[in-house]
Amino acid sequence: MSTIDTRELRNAFGSFMTGVTVVTAVSDSGEKVGFTANSFTSVSVDPALLLVCPSNKLSSFEVFNQCKHFAINILAEDQQDISNTFASAKGDRFADIEWHADENGCPIIAGSVAHFSCSTFNTIPAGDHILLVGEIQDFAANDKPGLGYSRGGYFSLGMEHKAEELTHLIGKVGAIIEHNNQLLLKKTEQGYTVPQVSTSKDQGSKNTIQQYLKEKGLSCKVSSVYSVYENPEAQAFSSYYRAVADNDVVTEGCEYVSINELKNIQFCSADVQSMLLRYVHEKHNGVFRLYVGDEKSGDIH
Ligand SMILES: Cc1cc2nc3c(=O)[nH]c(=O)nc-3n(C[C@H](O)[C@H](O)[C@H](O)COP(=O)(O)O)c2cc1C
Repeated sequence: MSTIDTRELRNAFGSFMTGVTVVTAVSDSGEKVGFTANSFTSVSVDPALLLVCPSNKLSSFEVFNQCKHFAINILAEDQQDISNTFASAKGDRFADIEWHADENGCPIIAGSVAHFSCSTFNTIPAGDHILLVGEIQDFAANDKPGLGYSRGGYFSLGMEHKAEELTHLIGKVGAIIEHNNQLLLKKTEQGYTVPQVSTSKDQGSKNTIQQYLKEKGLSCKVSSVYSVYENPEAQAFSSYYRAVADNDVVTEGCEYVSINELKNIQFCSADVQSMLLRYVHEKHNGVFRLYVGDEKSGDIH
């Protein structure tokens, strides 16, 4: 029998992109319980069945293992806080959120994308989890964008799409290019910045930056949009992509700066500085998020 590295296995499971749900029930003594789950799966249409996998380590495990009814709430993109609350908060997880009870008394969370009120169809032990299969008695859904989860971090397709749309407008596009724990920066009289170029309506921003880096002799893999800045006065947008260089070749006027040194150098503008310091922080945490906003404020997703 092969020995399975459980950490590696968790990482491999985590590579599957999912939505995020909160599963709720009420104990025999009337206590409301709930936990965040991404193991939700639709199972059957006729009869209408779904399943979710509660861990036997949950403090509320016995309630879910014995419950006659439960509810699933599919979270919307702006409900990340609720996901965090139901993944870790101690005490009454329902205290600070808006909810109502369904016909069985199970909490339905306001603002979710969909909810399903279920009676328990079957519970199947499966290792350190159970398969809790529910028969849907009632449900509702709307067309809000859902909250996504992948590799230990949240994402929102609504925001990704918005960022893509904005990046097709006229403006500037830049790249945060990483190689061996260093970033490729351009030195200007005002301070450091990232390599960037003007973009136009006919060529998407990602194509523009890829083309530009190639022309400069840089061999890079450009990945996702990292920040989109709106400049209302100029009616323009600047977008910055993450990229990884295959080698340490530099282009004229640019140099590699160690990521540890970034907090000590002068940048040409406050938005480039805040973006790169956020980059350092998020690299440390292992989860990169998307910023959409102006120089002073915006949303991080
Ligand atoms: C995105 C996400 C998905 C999760 N999915 C599950 C799951 O499917 N099953 C599960 O038992 N725990 C899952 N968890 C962990 C539980 O939410 C967490 O262990 C639980 O809320 C702890 O509750 P307790 O303090 O009452 O034991 C998930 C956590 C997160 C952040």
